[in-house]
Amino acid sequence: MAAQREHFGSGMAAVMAMAGSAIGLGNIWRFPYVVGQNGGAAFILVYLLCMVFLSLPIFLSEAIIGRSTHSSTFGAFGKLAPGSGWKWIGTLTIITPLIILSYYSVVGGWSIGFLYESVVMGFSGAGADGRFGGFISSVGGPLVCHTLFLALTAAIVLGGVKSGIERFNKMSMPLLFVLIVIIAVYSISLPGASAGVKYLVKPDFSLLTPKSFAYAMGQGFFSLSLGVGTILTYSSYMKKEESILRTGVGTAGFDLLFALIAGFAVMPAVFSAGIEPGAGPGLIFETLPYIFGKMGAAAPAASRAVSILFFLTIVIAALTSSISMFEVGAAYLVEEKGMSRRKAVAVIFTGTWALGVLCSLSFGPLGDFHIAGKTIFNFCDALTSNFLMTFGALLFVLFVGWKMDRETVRSEFTNGGALPLSRLLFKPVMFLIRWVAPVAIVLIFITNLL
Ligand code: PHE
Repeated sequence: MAAQREHFGSGMAAVMAMAGSAIGLGNIWRFPYVVGQNGGAAFILVYLLCMVFLSLPIFLSEAIIGRSTHSSTFGAFGKLAPGSGWKWIGTLTIITPLIILSYYSVVGGWSIGFLYESVVMGFSGAGADGRFGGFISSVGGPLVCHTLFLALTAAIVLGGVKSGIERFNKMSMPLLFVLIVIIAVYSISLPGASAGVKYLVKPDFSLLTPKSFAYAMGQGFFSLSLGVGTILTYSSYMKKEESILRTGVGTAGFDLLFALIAGFAVMPAVFSAGIEPGAGPGLIFETLPYIFGKMGAAAPAASRAVSILFFLTIVIAALTSSISMFEVGAAYLVEEKGMSRRKAVAVIFTGTWALGVLCSLSFGPLGDFHIAGKTIFNFCDALTSNFLMTFGALLFVLFVGWKMDRETVRSEFTNGGALPLSRLLFKPVMFLIRWVAPVAIVLIFITNLL
């Protein structure tokens, strides 16, 4: 076991790293299309509620486990509940982020592909005409891009916690906010964009269904990287004097803010081009190149610049998330299996690369290969988002709420009583962790099964 553990240099560095994990494809790619499929503003309000009353307590539970043990997921349960079956949750939470990483890096690869296209030729405006479909169903391009994306991720993780992960996040997070705000301002200024703005701010509650709640919670889990041990692992690099509550609120706040701005970057442009907001997962990859192309006819330079900025933003945001998934496995192999960081990175790279190749090919030559009626990519996505993440989150809240020693939890959350606000909020937070979160998670589980 490693004697010397690295730490994030400051509270702000920890928030940046966790926000880096949280802010990713979930915010730019997933959030706009999920909002579009669920009716806009009313769904956003539900999402806000879920964030405060469900996602945040789960985040705090993971952070309490991670920071109190300063261990990787596997080691953490071994320390807090020695000799019990809880250790196996640790194993589960090592596998889940690696499955997510495999398909996430395929989508990260597409973003690299589209960034490349923006740079070398721009978009023609030929329409949402299957260009995206053509790209992802081909073999060579997506595989090269997937490999490149995963190699970049591995290179940052190889640099270690402080000089790799912390440094990359500290540089990228402010840049990401600047980029997304520029794109949103541009999008809102397009002709006809006001309908898109209205869609995001004027709620129509008649559009909400029980499924909307399940989708809002699922999106909240994915977006805050919950239930898979990434927050636990990053929290284990937090110093004892930082506030867990402040880190949680800061991370969730940045994540939410970024998702909302991304909504304003995408939806007004979608409406301006007269595209259906409920177009689904292809929304940003299919419609935005189309929009960039159409704009390109009128203002080629501006359209080119915005499309480059847009895909650059997605690539960076995806990288800050993928490194957090990679790190969960790396920390485990280094701390529990005694591997060197280099070897751990090589092992994880190889495994996730291979599964990612299968996911990528499932849009082309392996399209007819189905597991439980789904293509390999969709199977990995559904297995992790609908089941493993929710299951992991349930186990984390149950552990902190019911199994972990109450005084240890209190002391970790309040830094031994030194943080007045955390002391004040301890009881309500524990209520959310013990009762509200588990019940809500079980309900999502059932809704997903139906
Ligand atoms: N939160 C990331 C995003 O929004 C995805 C993620 C999920 C990252 C799980 C780590 C773990 O893109």
